[in-house]
Amino acid sequence: MTVTPAIEADVLRSQDPELAEILLGERERQSTTLQLIAAENFTSPAVLAALGSPLANKYAEGYPGARHHAGCEIVDVAERIAVERARKLFGAEHANVQSHSGSSAVLAAYAALLRPGDTVLALGLPYGGHLTHGSPANFSGRWFDFVGYGVDAETGLIDYDQVRTLARTRRPKAIVCGSIAYPRHIDHAFFREVADEAGAYLIADAAHPIGLVAGGAAPNPVPYADIVCATTHKVLRGPRGGMILCGSELAERVDRAVFPFTQGGAQMHTIAAKAVAFGEAATPAFAAYAHQVVVNARALAAGLAAEGLVVTTGGTDTHLITADPAPLGVDGRTARGRLAAAGVVLDCCALPHGDARGLRLGTAAVTTQGMGEREMARIAALFGEVLRGATEASKAREEVRELAGGFPAYPR
Ligand SMILES: Cc1ncc(COP(=O)(O)O)c(C=O)c1O
Repeated sequence: MTVTPAIEADVLRSQDPELAEILLGERERQSTTLQLIAAENFTSPAVLAALGSPLANKYAEGYPGARHHAGCEIVDVAERIAVERARKLFGAEHANVQSHSGSSAVLAAYAALLRPGDTVLALGLPYGGHLTHGSPANFSGRWFDFVGYGVDAETGLIDYDQVRTLARTRRPKAIVCGSIAYPRHIDHAFFREVADEAGAYLIADAAHPIGLVAGGAAPNPVPYADIVCATTHKVLRGPRGGMILCGSELAERVDRAVFPFTQGGAQMHTIAAKAVAFGEAATPAFAAYAHQVVVNARALAAGLAAEGLVVTTGGTDTHLITADPAPLGVDGRTARGRLAAAGVVLDCCALPHGDARGLRLGTAAVTTQGMGEREMARIAALFGEVLRGATEASKAREEVRELAGGFPAYPR
């Protein structure tokens, strides 16, 4: 049997033309528009090959050497390789690579350390906390007593004084650091100190920056946090999925919290793809990529500021930028719509200084495509033209198509 990477939607053509059209349509969309969603990236063909492999067929509840199903001898090796590569990449004593998503990883971290009703301190949702950090619409808000810390309304920086005060007064069982939208490095040493003072566990939700950590372009939370949760599909450039890192003393609790407490069978094709991504992330080429992601984000942030947008915190340390387009006469939602019409794909987000929505964008995907500071300047100029209404959407769309077409993420 020939194993065709999933990217080759052609394999579907004869069997299911309806779905083939959808895969080809999405491939076309991704290759002719600009992917500035901060949480997205282009995985390598090797990662896609693992995802589209016969490992997808295997049931493997449990852990290597202790499965509930027969026939796991080969997938066991894949999981051991993934665990070893993750441990080495992040300097962790233990890694669990089975979490189906970032949210599943956070759920398992809470399950390992907390009881329902426990108090947890985390960045408030209006300031960039994730749904799993206490949203009433999520298990976290329903099962735990979340207390939110915030960011300074002027600077957009985490209000570290407030974190300390809330930890002292509310005595949380765990403190979560990590965000969906915070563009600056997080002071893990500070959070460790405050957690120790309060007798709390420290959970670092590094879903966003973990790829930068892998490439040495952001500080590593592993030496500070009791548990680090992460996704594998953002800057890290792996398959969609989650991962947990911790010390040996919590290894068993974490493993049990993932399986059997919160999940069933491990997805072995995804775990193999994670192993491939960890292998790629350990290379000098990936380190260069991670640093370029930050260089590009800084260039883009500076370009957006020059166009008149208000960039939160005045810039970025990471792949991520949040900005208020209000000075250009548009709110975040309108801006997102206009940019989408031009083929520039990004998100809206909350802003630290009020109710208005801003824009959230990142440079992970465009950097994978090989774009650099010159292209970031061109993209920033496009923002200015589109948001001011100085260029017709169709003309901007053509410019985006040409720019994206010059940097194909995959061989045609
Ligand atoms: C900080 C943080 N935690 C958790 C998640 C959840 O990841 P997933 O969408 O894979 O469940 C995200 C996703 O963006 C995130 O940014």
